[in-house]
Amino acid sequence: MAKVTTTETIRRYYNSGKKITMLTCYDYSSAKILDEAGIDGILVGDSLAMVALGYETTHKVGIEEMKIFTKAVAKGAQRALIVADMPFMSYHTSVEKAAKNAGKLIKAGANAVKIEGGNEYILSVVKHLTNIGIPVVAHLGFTPQFMNTLGGYKIQGKNIDKTVTMLQQAQKLEEAGAFMLVLEMVPDETAEFITKNISIPTIGIGAGAKTSGQILVLDDILGKYPNFTPKFVRKYTDLSSIMTEAIKSFIKDVEDCSFPNDKEVFKLDSEEKEKLNDYSYSYNK
Ligand code: KIV
Repeated sequence: MAKVTTTETIRRYYNSGKKITMLTCYDYSSAKILDEAGIDGILVGDSLAMVALGYETTHKVGIEEMKIFTKAVAKGAQRALIVADMPFMSYHTSVEKAAKNAGKLIKAGANAVKIEGGNEYILSVVKHLTNIGIPVVAHLGFTPQFMNTLGGYKIQGKNIDKTVTMLQQAQKLEEAGAFMLVLEMVPDETAEFITKNISIPTIGIGAGAKTSGQILVLDDILGKYPNFTPKFVRKYTDLSSIMTEAIKSFIKDVEDCSFPNDKEVFKLDSEEKEKLNDYSYSYNK
């Protein structure tokens, strides 16, 4: 089946003013649910390092792991645009290596890749990937792969100088070929200013309501990630409690022998049952 949501579709939504909806996802069954619910884009984010693999930061995840999760999501999502994160050090050493690794994610089923930052080197990567037919989503503001140089988990673009620098980077990323820009953890006004002064859609996460669309981490909105819920997350359900209740019920039912019941088992037909009874009788004599 041909992809319904392409970079062209995203462009069309942006031009028409329709807000673009995105969520992260790392597995087949969740991707199928997101796709069928009508999400525009799915990000196989390197946040999977924390959410799916239990690491403390995104730094630990590599290209081979990203490939596996991307394959699973691509199998589940027939309609949504799939963006895969390029993990830490998979695009930082040379443009050629970046192309090779981006190609691996496209072969795994991604329709585009996302890379963080906006310095001169990153611009050269965006340009090269775009030139060889790999659509790129850029990412500015708080960029988790730069956590150690940013000095931790901090809001970015909090003053005029930083905001102007971010805008200049955004404009250069657009010029280099990025078709969309994620803005993470920046003040409302900063995100609005950047959105108004570039011509590609901005997707906000902790960046207020004035961006062209929004993205959140799926496990955060479902209330499933136990370690931390950022201020900007809206929790739509409490899957952790729902799952805990279900699992406790299973444990109780097994322990008190109420699971499985007669409807939940396979039965021999009466002739075979009789034979087994006879055999069992003589066997136990
Ligand atoms: O990895 C991720 O989930 C992300 C989003 C937070 C934008 O990059």
